[in-house]
Amino acid sequence: MPDFFEILGTTRSMRRLKPDPVPDELIKTILEAGISAANGGNTQTWRFLVIKDPAIKKAVQVWYKKAFDEVVGPRYASSPVPPGVTAESFGKQHGAVEYLTEHFHEAPVWIVACLMDGPNPNRATGASIYPAVQNMLLATRALGLGSTLTTRHLLHAKESEAALGLPEGVHSYAILPIGYPMGKFGPVGRGNLSDFVYLDKWNQPYPAVSGA
Ligand SMILES: Cc1cc2nc3c(=O)[nH]c(=O)nc-3n(C[C@H](O)[C@H](O)[C@H](O)COP(=O)(O)O)c2cc1C
Repeated sequence: MPDFFEILGTTRSMRRLKPDPVPDELIKTILEAGISAANGGNTQTWRFLVIKDPAIKKAVQVWYKKAFDEVVGPRYASSPVPPGVTAESFGKQHGAVEYLTEHFHEAPVWIVACLMDGPNPNRATGASIYPAVQNMLLATRALGLGSTLTTRHLLHAKESEAALGLPEGVHSYAILPIGYPMGKFGPVGRGNLSDFVYLDKWNQPYPAVSGA
């Protein structure tokens, strides 16, 4: 197994997945990594819906694709290249995003990360589920499986959550499509640390990371 920091630096979106089944034992390990994360007040209001049923995945993919066709696709096409990424790799990312859109439902397993978040979720609410989501992504990578943090179904949240069969008072915060990757893991591209970090005052460089 790769070293922990290598896992951190290579946990990127793996959007091209093989349809081969993933053993339940591995899904269990990923879920255990998920619930190792912290959550507000240790209240464990999270729930994780494992989906293998092709009909349910397809019913959600329809909304995921609609959101791509109407919003995300056009936005990608007109977006500038982000920091830390070349025009070429941004183009490749766009292609991979489109691929996942078409094949979302073919990932053998999904984990839908949910919260029993009550009637008035606020900005802090997601902080009780996204640490678990990131833990699961790291565990997935460590096991040699691929995934991507996806939230696009939330552009049609009501319809997608109806297709997922979520009861009242429960909301989904991410869908992780999981499978064996077709490609290889590589380093993430984020740009220079010094572009994002300040010391004591907004915009004041932190010398410890200058040039990093
Ligand atoms: C909040 C959030 C939502 C995201 N939603 C989607 C999504 O719906 N579909 C998708 O293909 N990727 C999604 N991503 C993945 C990002 O596009 C991806 O992490 C980013 O482009 C960096 O690429 P990398 O993960 O390969 O390093 C999401 C990531 C985050 C953090």
